[in-house]
Amino acid sequence: MNAYHIFVSFKYTLTVLGSDKILRMYIPRTGAYAISIPLINETVMQQKERRKLRVAVLFGGQSAEHEVSLRSSINVIRAINRKKYDLTLIGVDKYGRWTLCREKDYLINPENPATICLSPAQSYLGVVPGQQHPQLINAANGQALPFIDVAFSVLHGTYGEDGSVQGLLRVLSIPYVGADVLGSAVCMDKDMTKRVLRDAGVPVTPSVTLFRQGGAIRNFDAIVSQLGLPIFIKPANQGSSVGVSRVNNRTAFDEAIALAFYYDAKILVEQAIIGREIETAVLGNDSPEVSVCGEICSNDAFYTYNIKYFKSDQPGLIIPAPLTASVDAAIRKTARQAYLALSCSIMARVDFFLTDQGEILLNEVNTLPGFTSLSMYPKLWAASGLDYCALVDRLLTLALSRAHEARLG
Ligand SMILES: Nc1ncnc2c1ncn2[C@@H]1O[C@H](COP(=O)(O)OP(=O)(O)O)[C@@H](O)[C@H]1O
Ligand SMILES: [Mg+2]
Repeated sequence: MNAYHIFVSFKYTLTVLGSDKILRMYIPRTGAYAISIPLINETVMQQKERRKLRVAVLFGGQSAEHEVSLRSSINVIRAINRKKYDLTLIGVDKYGRWTLCREKDYLINPENPATICLSPAQSYLGVVPGQQHPQLINAANGQALPFIDVAFSVLHGTYGEDGSVQGLLRVLSIPYVGADVLGSAVCMDKDMTKRVLRDAGVPVTPSVTLFRQGGAIRNFDAIVSQLGLPIFIKPANQGSSVGVSRVNNRTAFDEAIALAFYYDAKILVEQAIIGREIETAVLGNDSPEVSVCGEICSNDAFYTYNIKYFKSDQPGLIIPAPLTASVDAAIRKTARQAYLALSCSIMARVDFFLTDQGEILLNEVNTLPGFTSLSMYPKLWAASGLDYCALVDRLLTLALSRAHEARLG
């Protein structure tokens, strides 16, 4: 680390030296103090003084939720306070390539969820790990991009929500919104989530885990005798209901197993829970806050990808969910407990089933929930007194403060 050392004597003479290490030291007999001002990088610091903070918004990605992510990006970009922040837009295409986007034309068909896509790339980006400027390079001309203070990634699913991008941003020393590497990875894997939650005493849906390479019962009769019918079959690492099936018989079982294994080498077979779907939004680092509860009301067999993103008559999101005070409090308390047990930070949406018998079962934790203005997470906060723009600002502030604390720690 570079540092200037300024010696201040009783005679008010100043001496600036170039050596390292001293922070603040009294020098006996001379009556002088030595103060060192550490400079991470002079150029970067000078730049920072002159400019607003710069947010990189990341969207798209390689997961099945690419289009959903593009939709989320529109709202996030619109909500960022331009008096406070400058923007760098990074579109990740379906091959995983990072491209530099222009705000005015980065999307084709932005209003149509079925045909929305990234505009053809103008220039790809290279990354430079380490603490010093530059972090990102425009591969087309070799020019460094402006220094990025914080990233807001709305990359969902594989590589976006599973700790991969979080690890890359960490290596690049860019603070980011959302759970860190561990929290992201554990919450992305529904089997791992359940293992941690069971250990923490949080009730979860009864299930068995199957591996593509064997290692567990795959026998319909054995599973049905354990879990009953109907059952849900789902990939361990997916989102947006992709690869999820509700099964009532042996034929559907085989098809559902094949479908889930198409998406992942590890899958879950779960008891179907008859009851209501209740969701909460958690926000914060060490002392997280929990929003009001919301409920998903769908007439379909379950909340599928098509209903989530394409159906014009969206299922009702009832906010706040009509719950007794004690059930409401119990769900919110469990959400907070799960958030902390799973090493979450900054934000997560915690989803529950509430059975007809009043049992509360945690279904899953989403560390990068849908973020369009119609999505449950921002709506829950809006109903709790934090509108979309204020929420985005709060998330960026939390990301910066988590990074600051990590540096101090
Ligand atoms: N065990 C279950 N019992 C009842 N419904 C379920 C069960 N598992 C999933 N579902 C239904 O399927 C939807 C998607 O499953 P979920 O586990 O939330 O996966 P995803 O990560 O894809 O959202 C849920 O919102 C719910 O409607
Ligand atoms: Mg879900």
